Amino acid sequence: MALIELQDIHKVYETGDVEVRALQDVSLTIDDGDFVAIMGPSGSGKSTLMHLLGCLDRPTHGRYVLDGTDVSELDDNQLAEVRNRKLGFVFQAYNLLPRASAIGNVELPLLYAGRTHDRRERATEALTQVGLEHRIDHLPSQLSGGEQQRLAIARALANGPRIVLGDEPTGNLDSRTGQEIMDLLRELNDEGVTLVLVTHDEYVARHARRIIRLFDGRIEQDERVQNRPDAVGWPGKGDEA
Ligand SMILES: Nc1ncnc2c1ncn2[C@@H]1O[C@H](COP(=O)(O)OP(=O)(O)O)[C@@H](O)[C@H]1O
Ligand SMILES: [Mg+2]
Repeated sequence: MALIELQDIHKVYETGDVEVRALQDVSLTIDDGDFVAIMGPSGSGKSTLMHLLGCLDRPTHGRYVLDGTDVSELDDNQLAEVRNRKLGFVFQAYNLLPRASAIGNVELPLLYAGRTHDRRERATEALTQVGLEHRIDHLPSQLSGGEQQRLAIARALANGPRIVLGDEPTGNLDSRTGQEIMDLLRELNDEGVTLVLVTHDEYVARHARRIIRLFDGRIEQDERVQNRPDAVGWPGKGDEA
């Protein structure tokens, strides 16, 4: 089933008297449960596409249907609600609140969603899902880079989103830790979460099920991944060390 449908999307940025055509003629369907990597050179439109998919911006032209709702028609408040209910975000730089504990960071989106009665329980569940149940009261600065990214993933999962969007989620990590994060994302995908992530790393992209390549704001190639590399397992999974 199509969870995301983009029809003939164009995005034009107007800065002074210069027009930048960041996306042109982009039509794209993403099925429920898929795992898509978006690749392309710098300036090809990857971030613009992620912002549109994430309901953080609107197309200049075209239609975006997300989980049966035409989100091109929604106002800012309605878009914010869609973001909160259906989408989770993971960034290269983690974007955690430095003065809040791990569980405080995960509780925040639940607070925004107005969830009060089981907030702590739900946040603990999300932290357990990413193997951080033993770090609940730690500050982000007391966590390693890989743990900070797992915390950011727990935050993204807090509201039970259908889709998680990532912009270079392994970009700040060494390759071993990056592999652990990809393993975790693969596991979430196996459990049914639809994933879309931008990466410039061919090896990281091969963990996805499908790779879409952008060039000059257009889809240049769209292919299924053959021979995905093996997942090696991430700490906190299987072994209770
Ligand atoms: N807010 C903006 N205002 C004007 N131009 C922008 C803006 N954001 C991106 N662009 C331009 O749109 C094109 C695509 O940018 P972007 O989506 O950031 O590409 P990528 O993420 O692939 O590097 C680039 O030419 C970039 O300079
Ligand atoms: Mg970018």
